[in-house]
Amino acid sequence: MEIKNAVIIGAGTMGNGICHIFAQHGYTTTMVDIRKEALEKALSVISNNMDRQVKKGILTEDEKIAALARIKTSTELTKAVKQADIVIEAATEQIDIKKELFRQIDTHAPAHAILASNTSSISITTLGAVTQRPEKVIGMHFMNPVPVMKLVEVIRGYMTDNETTKAIMDLSIALNKVPVEVNDYPGFVSNRILMPMINEAIEALFQGVAGVEEIDQVMKLGMAHPMGPLQLADFIGLDVCLFILKVLYDGFGRDKYAPCPLLVNMVEAGELGAKSGRGFYDWS
Ligand code: CAA
Repeated sequence: MEIKNAVIIGAGTMGNGICHIFAQHGYTTTMVDIRKEALEKALSVISNNMDRQVKKGILTEDEKIAALARIKTSTELTKAVKQADIVIEAATEQIDIKKELFRQIDTHAPAHAILASNTSSISITTLGAVTQRPEKVIGMHFMNPVPVMKLVEVIRGYMTDNETTKAIMDLSIALNKVPVEVNDYPGFVSNRILMPMINEAIEALFQGVAGVEEIDQVMKLGMAHPMGPLQLADFIGLDVCLFILKVLYDGFGRDKYAPCPLLVNMVEAGELGAKSGRGFYDWS
């Protein structure tokens, strides 16, 4: 199937990054959010991030202008999805909100449209089950920052068919990403491996094994990670890390996924990392 029109739901960090790369690679792209101000802010973030690409020679100034011209915005989801070939949901990680969005998108999008979610840990099978087209529901999990990171984790729900999976693998390549196909189990592959590492780093801090910077230095310099696990946790958001660990803990019922009490306390205290100005580091 040919994909021309993409609709992205959510203008947050992931939503604007996904919108950025679709527009950059020639797709007519509509970004949807209930808040007009969020859409305006997202457009300016995209423009600034494209400027970084212009400086690096990835885009010319003319290509940037053309890419920005391909982006439309809307606060009306039901109208925006009417012409969609693909809808990518990148809304907040709350299952009831996502289920309701999938119900609405399914009702208003054309029958041929693929419905993808950028969720980091919510079951694709559960989202597919609220629609009349579970075979066309799939996970398209981008990594932050979307314009920079090469991976798309493509998650097949229990009902996702081969045609949909192939279309999303091909689409990811057309977006100059590297897709990896995985099945729909808690945390998929990325967060099943990443989150226990982050949780263990927090546990080591909690037990006084070493300080924040020392733990991060060991992993950065010793394992060639671009960021240490505590800095990465701040970058992802401590609330998001806690949420994903709970999904792993509930899904597998194994103690090794139990969130460290320090992480729980920090989230309760509103220390959520970069977005709140404070986490393991001071971001203000
Ligand atoms: N758009 C476009 N370009 C961007 C960008 C953006 N949003 N963010 C950074 N860049 C570019 C910069 O312009 C810069 O280019 P040059 O190298 O030519 O100067 C380059 O990327 C590196 O950026 P910085 O110089 O600002 O900083 P850095 O070298 O420290 O790299 C980083 C920043 C790319 C974020 C790097 O630290 C990194 O790779 N960190 C790990 C990121 C990671 O693990 N992401 C996955 C998180 S998990 C997730 O997303 C999924 C989940 O489910 C939780």
